Amino acid sequence: MTTRVLKSGTEIEIRPILPEDTERLAEFYENLSDKTIQSFYRCSIPKKQLARKEKIVQECNQNSEEYFRTVALCNDKIIAINMIIQIDRFSGEYEIGNLVSDEFQNMGVGSVLMKEMFRRVKKNHACLKLIAHTTFNNYRARFHLLKFGFSLDNIIDEEFVWVCTV
Ligand SMILES: CC(C)(COP(=O)(O)OP(=O)(O)OC[C@H]1O[C@@H](n2cnc3c(N)ncnc32)[C@H](O)[C@@H]1OP(=O)(O)O)[C@@H](O)C(=O)NCCC(=O)NCCS
Repeated sequence: MTTRVLKSGTEIEIRPILPEDTERLAEFYENLSDKTIQSFYRCSIPKKQLARKEKIVQECNQNSEEYFRTVALCNDKIIAINMIIQIDRFSGEYEIGNLVSDEFQNMGVGSVLMKEMFRRVKKNHACLKLIAHTTFNNYRARFHLLKFGFSLDNIIDEEFVWVCTV
């Protein structure tokens, strides 16, 4: 577990997701706004579906080099998740995504998670292609990806595809 202090002085903890996080993860999904869900998934998904018990249990028990979730916590509540998912074993392509709870957005949490993800990736892999998707009007996510060295690779069906080689 790693502790980080945000610009506001708030202390957060960063660690891999654990099997005992099911209730925390359900609460995290239940509190997301429709706008944040739409920004992350690029479509509307009912919260009930996101917080479905079997899905939550799977997400809390799935961590491996092919599918890794890191969570940020504040006062023992999950406030953000970073996901890194292997797309292709042979080409070393991974899809990444950051999802920060509404009340913690724009406070530096996504940046802390991104730095932690790059630290893990560089430690565990020789060469990786990281891929992220955003909608055109998700300016915060676009800025966030550019800040961390991603560049625009393609536009498919009005979705932006971002790439960063590590
Ligand atoms: C996108 C997201 C992951 C970023 O995480 P975050 O914790 O909010 O971001 P941070 O606070 O670390 O950094 C945001 C940066 O964007 C800047 N920013 C915020 N809104 C912006 C905008 N509309 N246009 C340009 N820059 C903007 C901030 O000034 C900040 O820059 P700085 O680090 O130089 O100060 C988070 O907001 C989120 O989960 N959004 C909803 C889901 C989503 O879109 N996920 C991305 C899928 S890849």
